[in-house]
Order: sequence, then C-alpha cells, then structure tokens
Amino acid sequence: MSSSLQDNYIKKESLYGAQNYSPLSVVIEQGEGAYLWDVDGNKYLDMVSAYSAVSHGHSHPELIKTLQSQSTKLAITSRAFYTEPFATFLEKLSNISGFESVLTMNTGAEAVETSIKAARRWGYFSKGIPEDNAEIIVANGNFHGRTTTIVSFSSDSSYKDGFGPFTPGFKTADYCGSCNCESIENCLSIESFEKKINKNTCAILVEPIQGEAGIRVPTEGWLTKLRELCDAKNILLILDEIQSGLGRTGKLFAFQHENIMPDGLILGKALGGALLPISAFLSSKEVMDHFKPGSHGSTFGGNPLASKVASKAIDLLFEDKLIENSKNMGEYFLSKLRQIDSKIVKEVRGKGLWIGVELNESEVNAKDLCLMLLNEGLLCKETHKTVIRFAPPLMISKKDLDWAIDKITKVFKTI
Ligand SMILES: Cc1ncc(COP(=O)(O)O)c(C=O)c1O
Repeated sequence: MSSSLQDNYIKKESLYGAQNYSPLSVVIEQGEGAYLWDVDGNKYLDMVSAYSAVSHGHSHPELIKTLQSQSTKLAITSRAFYTEPFATFLEKLSNISGFESVLTMNTGAEAVETSIKAARRWGYFSKGIPEDNAEIIVANGNFHGRTTTIVSFSSDSSYKDGFGPFTPGFKTADYCGSCNCESIENCLSIESFEKKINKNTCAILVEPIQGEAGIRVPTEGWLTKLRELCDAKNILLILDEIQSGLGRTGKLFAFQHENIMPDGLILGKALGGALLPISAFLSSKEVMDHFKPGSHGSTFGGNPLASKVASKAIDLLFEDKLIENSKNMGEYFLSKLRQIDSKIVKEVRGKGLWIGVELNESEVNAKDLCLMLLNEGLLCKETHKTVIRFAPPLMISKKDLDWAIDKITKVFKTI
C-alpha cells in the first residue's frame, strides 16, 4: 500500500539505518488490539505480533494505565536498591511458573546468555566439570538470538558469516522431525542428543517448538524423552520459551503439553505486555545460587517500570483468558487453514495461535505471498523462503479470524 508519504520514510530508513532487516513496504503509525494502521490510515490485521511479543493486543488500556502511573512515580533505579515492583514481579512469576528463582534481563538474547552462564556455573560448581570444559548441546535449526556467543551455535550460515571467531563449548544434535519418525519410540533425534553427551555436558538447550525454523512441532513425547535423558545423565534441561511461552501455544508454557518440568526456563517478548522489553531466566535455587553479587547483571534488568508492566501483563493473561483463547482460536484457525484446498500448500502445522504454512517452493515464494496478503489488509511475515507464520495477538476474536481466513483463501486460490 505504498504512497509518497510511506516511500519517504522507507527511503529515510534505508538511507540512515543499517540494512539488517528486510521489512514489508508499509509504514505503521498506530496500533490497537489486533489492528495496526499505516501513516495513510489504512487498517491491517496483525498476524505477526512483533514476532510473538504482542499477546495482549496493541496498547492494552490497562497496561497503558499501569505504564503511565508507574512512569510518573519511579521508572529506573538500577539494582543498586530494592523496589516494590521488582519484588512483587519476582514473587508473581515464581508462583505462576513453579520455579524457585528468577533472574531478569531485558532482551531475549540476554536471558539466553544468562541461562548459558547459569548452566556452566552449575556444571563446574555442582557437577564438578573441570574448569573451561563445560559443554551445552543445542538443536539443529535453533534460534536463540543474535549475540556472538549465541550465533556461535546457530546452524544458519547467514547468522554467522563474518562474525567469527565463535564461542566454543557447544555441540549440535538433530531437532525432532529430522528423521520423519511416526512415533517417539523410534525417533532418531533422541539418539542424536545421547551421542553428543559426555562427562562434561552440563545442559541441553532447546526450543519446545522451533519458531524461526518454521514452527517445527516435535513429535509428542519428545520433551519427555529429553527430560528422561537429562535425568539419567545428570544434565540440565533448559527450554527457551521466549516465543512459545506465556500462552502462545494454548498452555501457559509449551512444556505443559507434556507434563514435564525443565530445570531452566527462558522467557521474554510477551512478558513486557507489548510495551517494554523484559526477559527472565527461571530455575531452582540450586542453579541460581551460583550467581553471586558481581557475577552477572544488567543496568535496566528488573527496573521498576518494566517490572510493574510485566506483573500486570501476567495478571491479564489470566483475567483476559488469553491462554484459553489461544487454545480455542488456535485449533479453529489451524483447522480452517488445513481446509484450504490449494496446490501451493505443502503442510499446515502449529499449536495454539502459532501456525506455520509451509509452501511448495516450486509454486510460490513466501515473501511474495506476504506482499499479496498485505494488499488484502493482512500483515504476515515469512520465515526462510517457504514458510508463512501466523501469530496474531492472543486476544484475537473469531470474527477477525474468519475475515483473515477469507482473505488467505482468496490469495492462496489466485495462485
Ligand atoms: C526462541 C527465541 N529465543 C530467543 C530470541 C531472541 O530474543 P530477542 O530478539 O529479544 O533478543 C527469539 C527472538 O525471536 C526467539 O524466538
């Protein structure tokens, strides 16, 4: 929906900004609920949700009220002092998650880095791994962020090229799905993790569903098998739920689909109520107590403003029934997408309101399809060349989804 006004901003971004993204050509000015408007007043339904950071909807009135009132009282103190919003937030997150201890940061990548430090310290100080020998096993196709350490164990060359030297201490195993097994009993992925384990392994770090890799959903029982493996070998199981957590998959946490409990959990994105960055690493006292004053920190991590907003965002997850809506609307959306009879669709998969449509590569490019959907008033984003992901705000209504399904069907059928 390009116009001269929009072209002007797009040109400015290209001229003065680093070209580390490739946005769709639309300039967004305003958001409310599940909708976004561009600078020309065109209205769109948001199917991206800032890569799953907008669960409560844009500009939730209660969250705005919380942000405004806390910002006029106290916003930033650093952790040089105690504050009520931080203490209350820690207690709330610990209570809803069942983890004894919480360490807050700002971005997802920082919380992942925190989990790596925690796993290594536990490896050295609790498990007795010789200094500087700790190893963490990750999965093929992972996405955990963009710091130099995190891209060190990425399997995507575009995240790594020209950024070496990389951090050692990581091994890569196969994510579930690589072997196309029908049942978890003969899943080669578990075997692949087992083969990478040695006496220096301190943790396995995975996403319960791989988001950036194209919403790859593991076979049922995969996390349970990983849990059993970690128990048998005295290894921490750390789950990155930065995208999948806080209701996105139709449960509070994605690991709850399997009734297991990880040793460490990483949260971010929606924790900030679509207003502020705040992330967290959660674990047991045994793991967390290896952090001592001075060993780790962040100036903005746990600031009272973000803590207050995050506390409210947690309350609203339950008060607004966002988890339930994600489950019900997710099942509805998935079934409707599966009913679209189109030769361009190879597979539709997902959990809750987190759905990937894999396209037949020979038929169409996912980015072109996103542009066509944009012209119909739907904001979507591809991941890699072949998958369109649909991740609307968790408060989306059935009426809005029905409208979206009509538009998606129309676009898919025109090809
Ligand atoms: C699973 C996962 N981990 C980590 C990150 C990194 O989070 P951030 O961009 O806030 O650093 C992301 C971001 O998309 C993610 O999806």
